[in-house]
This record gives sequence, structure tokens and C-alpha cells, in this order.
Amino acid sequence: MAKKDIDWGSLPFGYMETDYRYVSNFKNGAWDNGELTKDANITLNECACVFQYAQTVFEGLKAYTTKDGRTVVFRPDLNADRLRDSALRLKMPEFPKERFLEAVDMVVKANADWVPPYGSGATLYLRPFMFGSNSVIGVKPADEYQFRILTTPVGPYFKGGAKPITIRVTDFDRAAPHGTGNIKAGLNYAMSLYAIVDAHEKGFDENMYLDATTRTKVEETGGANFLFVTKDGKVVTPKSDSILPSITRRSLVQVARDILGLEVEEREVFVDELPDFAECGLCGTAAVISPVGKIVNHDKEILLPAGMENMGPVTKKLYDTLTGIQMGTIDGPEGWVHEIKID
Ligand code: PLP
Ligand code: COI
Repeated sequence: MAKKDIDWGSLPFGYMETDYRYVSNFKNGAWDNGELTKDANITLNECACVFQYAQTVFEGLKAYTTKDGRTVVFRPDLNADRLRDSALRLKMPEFPKERFLEAVDMVVKANADWVPPYGSGATLYLRPFMFGSNSVIGVKPADEYQFRILTTPVGPYFKGGAKPITIRVTDFDRAAPHGTGNIKAGLNYAMSLYAIVDAHEKGFDENMYLDATTRTKVEETGGANFLFVTKDGKVVTPKSDSILPSITRRSLVQVARDILGLEVEEREVFVDELPDFAECGLCGTAAVISPVGKIVNHDKEILLPAGMENMGPVTKKLYDTLTGIQMGTIDGPEGWVHEIKID
């Protein structure tokens, strides 16, 4: 095994074609056996359901090299569960959990040379996805599907460093037309593209979406959930059934409560209470936990000194513990880290 000759430390969060991807097709009511392929391209009919009605769902997880040189993935079972929920919501067949876990193992093993080394700051991002592949013109689900996992080595999603992460409260809604905000479906993300381009053009890194009904409660950003820290060190995270149930956020809540002994509140978070928080972090597979330095709510600016130059103390503890578990320097709860044997 020889790692690829890549400047791992300067990788962006981008797509780079790796050697293998996993593919399985669903036809006549059943999934085939699945295989690895070197072909990164997909040829589909012009009328495939994914093109006409955006029948597509996806997941995101990472493979890491631990300090002692093992290759691991973080809680892939939860990605399998969420992919199933997303698929069922879009009337797609379930890709069985054991098959999902086997596919993750196969694709990471086949691309072992692309898993960035320990300490490089980079990881191998896995993008499992599924789409309706046969032609459909009346509005209905496809009969045939493809499940794939592509991999790409990535650096940090938010650059951070000199310039603090700045977000704005947005008036755009992120939800797709039929309110599917809590699943990872392509259309949800397409519906957020206008808002993210608008935010970037105005100098913001992300949008803070509010609940669509009352527009008073904090939901999430386009690619991460929120974690706040109160001035007395309590961790607060929005409870909403229209945000993506982030695996990172659920893990951080458990880390905060059970490992760090912090008080955690999962509850409605109102925009009006934003000035009361001492720290704000964006959490997700891509974001890990990235500290926010400034939140702009229309004509009001909320500065979070804790997210300016360095992470705030609680965010830092959460970050160090989570990444320590992922990189094998801290023992986490049973089953969080799944080792992939590379021979
Ligand atoms: N919210 C949105 C909209 C996302 O796209 C993501 C990333 O997948 C998350 C939250 C974080 O979820 P997770 O921690 O499972 O990656
Ligand atoms: C992830 O964190 O895995 C996501 O899918 C978020 C996306 C913004 C890249």
C-alpha cells in the first residue's frame, strides 16, 4: 500500500476522482449483488426520474487514519438508517443496512491509498447516494434505482483561520416544496442554492434558516446543525423536526453529557436569544464543529468573541473530544468507530 502523492494539508473540500466507487442497481424489485467499478461516469436516459423529478437522496461520512495507523469510519450505521428514512420519504426502495455497511467497507478498502494520513487535517469523504434511474414522464416514482458510493479526499469545509465564520439570518426558506427538510434529498439542497450564492455574494459563509411557520426559531444552516453555548457553559441545540438529524450533533450531545459532564438542552431556540450565547458552532460531517464569529440578523450584528481568533473553550473541548474519538486517541462509546481492515 502506498499513499497517493498529494499535498494532503492543502486539500480543499472538493471532488477529486479516486480509483474505485461502489455501484448496485435495483431492478424488478431487487438489488443486484453490487460491485466496485473504475468508471466514474453514469449514462442515463434523458427522461430518468432523477432528472425530471429530482428523485435522489444522499449521505455523507468520513474515513480517517487513526494515530496508530488503522482506517476507521464514524458511525456508518446511522448513515444507513438515515439513508433509509430519506429513501422511504421519496418512495425509493431501502438499501439494506448490512449491504450499506459492506459497501462502505469495500469502497474504503479499494481506495485505501486515498485515505489521508493521521495528522494531515484531511479525511476521505464518502458520499453514498441513490437515484431513480429509469424513464418516467408522469409524476410517479421510478421502478429502477442505482445506489453508489463515491469517495474523495477533502480538507476542511470552513476554512476558518484569519477570517472568522460569519453567518446571516436569512429570509429564504430552505425546505423543498413539500417540506422535506429533515431528509438528505437532492431537491432540498437545490432549493438552498439561491440562498447560499446570495449569502456568499454578500460576504457571509452560511445562512441561518428559521422555522418556516413563525420565522422566530433557529433551525440550521445549509450544511450543518447549530450548537450554542450559554454564558454559564450550558450546551443548547435546536430541537426541530424539520432539520436534518445530524449524526455529528447527536454525537456531540452525548459527548457533552456523558464524557464532559456538561448540561445539554435540546429545545426551541429563538432568534431573540442569540445575543445571550457565548459560543456558536456549526456541526456536521463536513463542518466537524466550526466556530461562528459573527451572526448578522438584518440590521443587528451579534459578535461572538469566542469564535473570532480561536474556538471558545466549550467548543474546543467538544471538538477535541469528538476528533480524538474519530482519530483513535480517545475511547468513545461502544460501536462509534468502525475499523476497516486493509491488507
Ligand atoms: N444539516 C444539513 C443540512 C447537512 O447537509 C448536514 C450534513 O450532512 C448536517 C446538518 C450535518 O449532519 P451530519 O452530522 O450527519 O453530517
Ligand atoms: C456533510 O456534512 O456530509 C454534508 O453533506 C454537508 C454538505 C454541506 C457537504
